[in-house]
Amino acid sequence: MTIENIENPTAETGSVVVAIEAASVNFPDVLIVENKYQISVPTPFTAGSEFAGTVTEVGPDVSWPAVGDRVTGSAFCGAFAEQISVPARQLSPVPKGLDMIHAAAFGVTYRTAYHSLVTIGGLEAGDWVVVLGAAGGIGSAAVDIAVRLGAKVIAAVSSAERAKVCLDLGAGETIVYTAESLKDRIKEITGSGADLVIDPVGGTYAEQAIRATTWGGRYVCVGFADGEIPRIPLNLILLKGVILRGFEIRTLADHLPEAVALGDKRIGELVAEGMKPYVSDVFPLSRTADALTAVRDRSTTGKIVIDTRNEQF
Ligand SMILES: NC(=O)c1ccc[n+]([C@@H]2O[C@H](COP(=O)([O-])OP(=O)(O)OC[C@H]3O[C@@H](n4cnc5c(N)ncnc54)[C@H](OP(=O)(O)O)[C@@H]3O)[C@@H](O)[C@H]2O)c1
Repeated sequence: MTIENIENPTAETGSVVVAIEAASVNFPDVLIVENKYQISVPTPFTAGSEFAGTVTEVGPDVSWPAVGDRVTGSAFCGAFAEQISVPARQLSPVPKGLDMIHAAAFGVTYRTAYHSLVTIGGLEAGDWVVVLGAAGGIGSAAVDIAVRLGAKVIAAVSSAERAKVCLDLGAGETIVYTAESLKDRIKEITGSGADLVIDPVGGTYAEQAIRATTWGGRYVCVGFADGEIPRIPLNLILLKGVILRGFEIRTLADHLPEAVALGDKRIGELVAEGMKPYVSDVFPLSRTADALTAVRDRSTTGKIVIDTRNEQF
């Protein structure tokens, strides 16, 4: 990755230009840069999929936002930059109570976590919820939201330090899956098994977690940070009556637009009550490659944000 000066973007019909102030790193950014994502992007391209900033130019046929509005947004690429041109429908107002750094780290992870838990996972207060990769971006958001919605949360992670992060977010129990059996410990803690599993990790942990669900429990497949896509024996599904579902934030609005609106309202209420993403580190734009490397190497917790201000190129 290199930093280069390119032409300023312009606002086409239905689009606006945003002066980006902060952009957060999501695991798919790493996959896209390494050309390991489901969709290949022709090079050269500007990476980065989530940002917060101020609107500087509005194209034709845009009813909202206006120049000067503070917005957050997502795009497939283009957010690790000082400016982006993006369709207005991909933007939301910065939630009240969030600064630009936290606003940039909020939309993709909290929406993904919320809908995985509630819309797809059917979370109810009092449920035993297991979150895998619980100190990561999606994981930490899932722990935070599940605790706030009254679940009993078991955070599963790879080290004691990462477990501590989850306890600070309100998890009641932790499991260090690199040192102890995920399946045995979930059963030990819950008695009859987990009601709901949120899995952004995959690999061998997926089957272990499914084996530790209660009869009729739900498992939501969110991602494969492990790199290995698990294959689950169907006899397990028959015997346990477990419900397996997948979730992808990118296409949710196409299938369940009412759920998106309801989720945004509920997430907004939680932010007003003090919820905000756990940002563990902020890198300047010139160190974007280091930020992506840290996420790829599993050495980060919560969200990593790129501050795109205060540098001259
Ligand atoms: N479905 C959707 O709509 C959606 C939306 C956004 C992201 N995702 C996916 O969700 C997954 C997690 O994204 P994220 O942004 O939360 O990533 P992240 O912040 O890097 O967290 C991923 C977590 O996975 C665990 N992990 C296990 N094996 C790993 C490995 N080999 N390399 C890296 N991490 C590993 C790590 O926790 P431990 O070290 O504690 O195990 C890490 O904290 C990714 O696969 C991403 O593509 C899906």
